[in-house]
Amino acid sequence: MPIRAQLRGLVCLLRLQRQCEFNYYYKEKKMADLDGIIANKDKDYGIGIPVQKQSFFLKGLDHCDWGIKDRMSRIFNPETGRTVMLAFDHGYIMGPTSGLERLDLSIVPLIEYADSLMCTRGALRSVVPPVCNKPVCLRYSAGTSVLTELNNECILDIKDAIRLNASALAVMVSIGDTYEAKTIENLVRTADYGYTYGIPTMGVTAVGKQMTRDARYFATAARICAENGATFVKTYYTEQDFAKVINACPVPIVIAGGKKLPEKEALDLCYRAINEGAAGVDMGRNVFQSEKPVAMIRAVRGVVHEGLTTEQAFEMFNDLAD
Ligand code: 5RP
Repeated sequence: MPIRAQLRGLVCLLRLQRQCEFNYYYKEKKMADLDGIIANKDKDYGIGIPVQKQSFFLKGLDHCDWGIKDRMSRIFNPETGRTVMLAFDHGYIMGPTSGLERLDLSIVPLIEYADSLMCTRGALRSVVPPVCNKPVCLRYSAGTSVLTELNNECILDIKDAIRLNASALAVMVSIGDTYEAKTIENLVRTADYGYTYGIPTMGVTAVGKQMTRDARYFATAARICAENGATFVKTYYTEQDFAKVINACPVPIVIAGGKKLPEKEALDLCYRAINEGAAGVDMGRNVFQSEKPVAMIRAVRGVVHEGLTTEQAFEMFNDLAD
């Protein structure tokens, strides 16, 4: 056969092959889906049924983005609107704090009872089992220790917080202190990153050596945190006028426990804080320095999530401690 005729035959064959492939992909394979489409029914459009408006369960956060709300819903229980956070970041300024010498022995057994963990990236990577799957409020500022002067801090790299899957970023804010401006700048930068990546910021109101722990101070500090972008705030409970601290802060407040108290007094502190409007606790020493830390954190949960009174929670503590 002449070479021209052979070439023509080859071209025809190639064309035929392409046509077959086209038919297979566009008619048989892809277009086949068209056959399976179920006809829409009028009733499925829900004509006449208004779309329900949703309101977020935590105060002041209705207008936050989805990622922030998702992470806040992991830290705070949407059913109670509250949280029991276990704080064990003390070592970042105090070294091997009493009760935290061996985090694997003292903290790991408590993790299952906490709604959220507040700790440094060092503790997280070295001790906290990733399979525990608890939302982490990462200590995101660091600087001077108790051996010099507190609160001269910087912030971490946001990439590391994302790598660690942080559910919130905790930043120290020191109002009325030498490093006030620097700590507020840290909060502002953190909130900027947080809103960029959908991660809430917790403003931690610091108490400097000279500062009075009264409602006026904490109301000022908490409000400054919220106004500068904190998604929630950690303060201390004040004997007088704590409700004013809560009411003057447009976002949720959790309380730190402070120095170790007898268990009944610590439970009473939780009870009063919750009943005056706190959205939970971020408690450390009163849990891990207790003789019976598991009993203590479970009793704290009783107050925060189950509405136990001080007496009921103390009874629960004693029962569990036996
Ligand atoms: C220190 C902190 C601590 O985590 C915070 O004080 C909570 O711990 P405690 O209940 O022991 O006071 O933020 O800056």
